[in-house]
Amino acid sequence: MVAGMSTGWIGHFPNYRARRLRRTAALRRLVRETTLEAGQLVLPLFARSGRKARRPVSSMPGVFQLSPDEVAREAEKAHALGVPAVILFGIPERKDEKASGAFARNGIVQQTVRLLKKELPDLIVMTDVCLCEYMSHGHCGIVSKEQGGEVANDLTLPLLARTALSHAEAGADVVAPSDMMDGRVGAIRRELDRHGLSGTPILSYAAKFASAYYGPFREAAESAPKFGDRRSYQMDGANAREALREVALDIAEGADMVMVKPALAYLDVLYRVKTEFGFPTGAYAVSGEYAMMKAAAARGWIDERAVTLESLRAMRRAGADFIITYAAAEAARWLQEGA
Ligand code: PBG
Ligand code: ZN
Repeated sequence: MVAGMSTGWIGHFPNYRARRLRRTAALRRLVRETTLEAGQLVLPLFARSGRKARRPVSSMPGVFQLSPDEVAREAEKAHALGVPAVILFGIPERKDEKASGAFARNGIVQQTVRLLKKELPDLIVMTDVCLCEYMSHGHCGIVSKEQGGEVANDLTLPLLARTALSHAEAGADVVAPSDMMDGRVGAIRRELDRHGLSGTPILSYAAKFASAYYGPFREAAESAPKFGDRRSYQMDGANAREALREVALDIAEGADMVMVKPALAYLDVLYRVKTEFGFPTGAYAVSGEYAMMKAAAARGWIDERAVTLESLRAMRRAGADFIITYAAAEAARWLQEGA
C-alpha cells in the first residue's frame, strides 16, 4: 500500500464498515489475502555420520543432529505431511583449514543426498553450500595469513563452486550458497554449467544479515567461528537498500531464487525484495526465532501453535513464496488439523 494514500481513501468510501466481513469464519476465509500451506515450507535437517543416531540440540527442542538414515526418516515424516522440501547441513567428522569435508565425494551431505534421492525421489533436496561447518576456524571462507587473517573472498570461490558441484552431482535438486562471498553465485553457476548441470537451480542466501539470531544454529551445526565474527562478510542489520543491491547482484549472476535471512526481524527487507524484483523469494525463520518461541511456549507464556502460524503468515504476507523453518513439520500438521 502506498503511504500517504490511505487518509484520502476514507472520504471516498463513506459507507465502508470494516467489521462486516469479519463476522463469521467463512466470511473471513473468503476474503483472506494470504495463504499458508505446507507446500510452502522447507525443513532444515542436520546430518552427521552414524546409524540410528539422534543427538538433541539443547537450544532447539525438537531439532537433532541425525545420522543419514534418521535424516531420511525425518524427511519422510515431513514429506507425508505435505512439506515438499528439506535443506541439508552437514557436520563432518574432521575439520581443517581448507574445508575438505565440504566437497568430499563421500562427504556427509553428499552421502545423505544420495540416500534421500533414492528413498524419496519426489522430495526436493536442497543443500546449504558453505564452508564454516568444515573449517577448523569456523569461518565461511579461507582465512588468509597474507591478507592479515581476513576471510579471502576470491580464494574461497573455487571451494564453494566445488562444494556446490559435489552436491549437485550427488543429486541435490537445489544448491543454496549461504557464505556471502561476492561473486559466488556466478562461480557456482559456471561450475555447474561446465559439468552438464545447467538444470540445477541456485537458491541464493542473497540478503543474509550478520545476526545474533544464529546462535542456536551454531550449536546445531558446530560452526561457531573460533575467533572474530562474520560481520566482514554478512550484512549489517541496519541496511535495507544494500540488501536490494545484494539481491540484484545475485540475480545478475544467475540466482534462480533469493532469500532473506533472518525472517521476522527483516520483514521490511523481504517486502522490498519481493516488490522490487518479483523473483521467487524465500524467508529463513532462523534458529533464534525458533528457540525463542520454543522457550516461551515451554513456560506456557505463549500459545506455540498460534504464535508459530501467525509468524509464518507474516512472512508470507511480507512477500515470501516459501519459508525455511525448523517448525515445518509441526506447522504442516497444525495446518492439516485446520488452524
Ligand atoms: C552457515 C549458515 C548459518 C545459518 C545458515 N547457514 C549460520 C551462520 O551464518 O552463522 C543460520 C541458520 C539459523 O540460524 O537457523 N553459513
Ligand atoms: Zn558459513
